[in-house]
Amino acid sequence: MSLEPIELYRDKNHACLMFTDLVEEDGQAVQANQFLVVDGDTGAIIDPGGNLAFNELFMGMTKHFPPHKLSYLIASHADPDIIASLDRWLTSTPAKLVISRVWERFVPHFTKAGKTEGRVIAVPDGGGHLPLGRHELVLLPAHFMHSEGNFHFYDPVSRILFTGDLGVSMTSGAEARVPVTQLAPHLPRMEGFHRRYMVSNKILRLWTRMARQLDVAMIVPQHGAPLIGKQAIEDFYQWLDGLACGIDLFDERAYQLPTDQIDPATRQVRPASQAAGR
Ligand SMILES: [Fe+2]
Ligand SMILES: [Fe+2]
Repeated sequence: MSLEPIELYRDKNHACLMFTDLVEEDGQAVQANQFLVVDGDTGAIIDPGGNLAFNELFMGMTKHFPPHKLSYLIASHADPDIIASLDRWLTSTPAKLVISRVWERFVPHFTKAGKTEGRVIAVPDGGGHLPLGRHELVLLPAHFMHSEGNFHFYDPVSRILFTGDLGVSMTSGAEARVPVTQLAPHLPRMEGFHRRYMVSNKILRLWTRMARQLDVAMIVPQHGAPLIGKQAIEDFYQWLDGLACGIDLFDERAYQLPTDQIDPATRQVRPASQAAGR
């Protein structure tokens, strides 16, 4: 475990920090990254994470930015590894939550009653430009990648595209600190996740068409290592363009009345044939 963030970008007015390794690795919780973006005296946390990460992220952030000045908690979507710590962030900072309008009335379930009142900026499906200090973050539509109401965040200063669950790889916190410059050897750690979690190839292609219009130096996902450099990023877009995933791969075989038996004692699933021969 390491509390020290990676500096993805820094100039005298602007910084992007990535925390990769805040959660004790016991194999139960997937590795996750959290981000602090600072412009002058304005700060935002992107995808703050769950309760496992809260204490360490709060302490880690405090070394780089005062919590009482935090403007935004920006959530790509409403999954537990993104925003389950919401109650504690709303208590400990004055930040507003920026999240898809689709999740606006669901996120209060993460908090005590009344906590979210006046504190949620609900983003319409088309996205928008959110002021951050002297600059801004672009909230880009990324619906169904994987969540129904889903945004990515482009920082025009660092030219980093924060892509939430898109572009993720299954790694340890230490491995997530090493940027990837060549896509091909990295694909085995990405493929299974994208095939099951991304909703359809149609969505991937609509997204790459939009993303190619941006000048991107780095694609930084919420799990695993960043992709750096023109070649790795173009290879990633091309891989997505050709990837069958989600509903592309589901047919009637996936919707049969089940026959397997679930044993709560062993937590194992046994095929019906084995259970019968017991
Ligand atoms: Fe997710
Ligand atoms: Fe995630």
